[in-house]
Amino acid sequence: MIEATAPGKVILFGEHAVVYGRPALAAPVTQLRARAVVATGEGPDVRLIAPDLGRATTLAAARDTNPLAATVRLVESRAGRTLSPGVSLSVSSAIPIASGLGSGAAIAVAVIRALDAYFALGLSREEVSALAYETERLHHGTPSGIDNTVIAFEQPVYFVRQPPANHIETFCPARPLRLVIADTGVRSATKDVVGDVRRCWEADRARFEAIFDACGRLAEAGRAALAVGDLASVGCLMNDNHAQLVAMTVSSAALDRLAEAARAAGALGAKLSGAGRGGNLIALVEAESEAAVCAALLAAGAARLFRSDVG
Ligand code: MEV
Repeated sequence: MIEATAPGKVILFGEHAVVYGRPALAAPVTQLRARAVVATGEGPDVRLIAPDLGRATTLAAARDTNPLAATVRLVESRAGRTLSPGVSLSVSSAIPIASGLGSGAAIAVAVIRALDAYFALGLSREEVSALAYETERLHHGTPSGIDNTVIAFEQPVYFVRQPPANHIETFCPARPLRLVIADTGVRSATKDVVGDVRRCWEADRARFEAIFDACGRLAEAGRAALAVGDLASVGCLMNDNHAQLVAMTVSSAALDRLAEAARAAGALGAKLSGAGRGGNLIALVEAESEAAVCAALLAAGAARLFRSDVG
């Protein structure tokens, strides 16, 4: 039996604008993980099992739109070999789905890591990330590549989409970030939100290019503040980034309410993270404010909270 895992992720600065070539910063959420298990057994088929979703199928019967099957086929093709009949691949995840925390990319990376071990390929993290990017393209048409990168690298990354070779730098903040992640409980498909932003951009390119530019500047300023451990500035920049995401139309009443509650309770800053319209908010807190911020987020309607440290 082979087991592999991969973390969730948060976007610290620059979601959506990153799709349009602006810089962004993301960090892994190592406590929330997806898990893939490859087990050998008897039988004529390769079985794909997702117990959390109550789904099971065979590789032969699965369509190309099935992300699990697509990931397996990609790795088989990279290996030049196929999984033996009787093998089962099970995936499970503690990462909430469709909530901006990278569950799709994390499952893909966990599966790729497990199959890498099964086929003894010795893939680099860049190769794991590139394969996960191919499956991300099934989830939504124009992924920037930041999710698969931060999850496969399992380190905070500064990322600029620059096909064919993206600019990727891992970093470690000068002072650790203490994040509270608040789930609105509202699921939101990245593909739909990214598609809506594209329609808005097509309808008013000048306005949306200006918003993307502002997000890019905030990501650069955030990177500089993180490098010197200026967490007060990081928090202010997160608030400013949230305002740009509101202007981009990807926030929601629930996300705005959570952001306000976190700030009023003493968070250094708060913003939605990921595609938006639902999903999760991240609040930057200090040890002294953490309990009050958590209480305020729950009182403001957060369905659940997670904690994550960066650096
Ligand atoms: C999703 O985590 C981040 C988005 O910018 C989409 C992408 O970069 O592919 C919304």
